[in-house]
Amino acid sequence: MRLAANVVEREEGHLDVLVNMPASPVPCATFMSTPVEDVAAVLLTNVAGYVRVMHAFLPLLELSADPRIVNVSSGLGSFALFHDSSRIESRAGTPLYGAAKSAINMLTASLRATTSRYPQINSADPGMTATDLSGGQGHSVKRRHRRDHRVCYWRTRHSTGAYRDGDGDLPW
Ligand SMILES: NC(=O)c1ccc[n+]([C@@H]2O[C@H](COP(=O)([O-])OP(=O)(O)OC[C@H]3O[C@@H](n4cnc5c(N)ncnc54)[C@H](OP(=O)(O)O)[C@@H]3O)[C@@H](O)[C@H]2O)c1
Repeated sequence: MRLAANVVEREEGHLDVLVNMPASPVPCATFMSTPVEDVAAVLLTNVAGYVRVMHAFLPLLELSADPRIVNVSSGLGSFALFHDSSRIESRAGTPLYGAAKSAINMLTASLRATTSRYPQINSADPGMTATDLSGGQGHSVKRRHRRDHRVCYWRTRHSTGAYRDGDGDLPW
């Protein structure tokens, strides 16, 4: 991570937007049969990984005139969507992944609320996208890039501490 930050520092001197999105696949085994070591490995990437990226890039963001962080979350991290039976998030059956994404949402909200040191910081849900992580299900990566652009640059341009997808605000 430090190496990546060094490259940005050398090439650009600062960073305007950090799109923070480390994730490793969640084991397919049922919850009870997933070894705790595998759970810890998932949380290390899917939660601690975000912190590691922020630690590495925050000094470069502080050199920007308009710095922002977009923590890529998921609708599966929303307690409100989980409790809405009309939403697919209530039926996803991915407790570990959802727990990690809820943690990312709380990280976003509480960093915003508890310190003025951080730049604009928002959580974003890119929607189901056909990547290795989703097993190829969802909309194309090209379409997602357009949505991500909208979420990262337009919808979050003048806001902070928000949680959004390409269509607007999501309930936490
Ligand atoms: N795909 C979906 O349907 C979907 C829906 C909602 C939210 N999301 C979220 O979107 C983000 C991107 O996921 P994706 O679908 O684009 O999957 P992806 O292509 O597999 O991207 C995952 C990223 O995490 C990086 N990564 C993996 N292990 C890491 C580690 N230990 N430390 C740091 N980085 C690591 C990968 O880097 P390498 O390429 O170098 O391995 C890759 O850039 C994730 O946060 C995911 O939870 C995805």
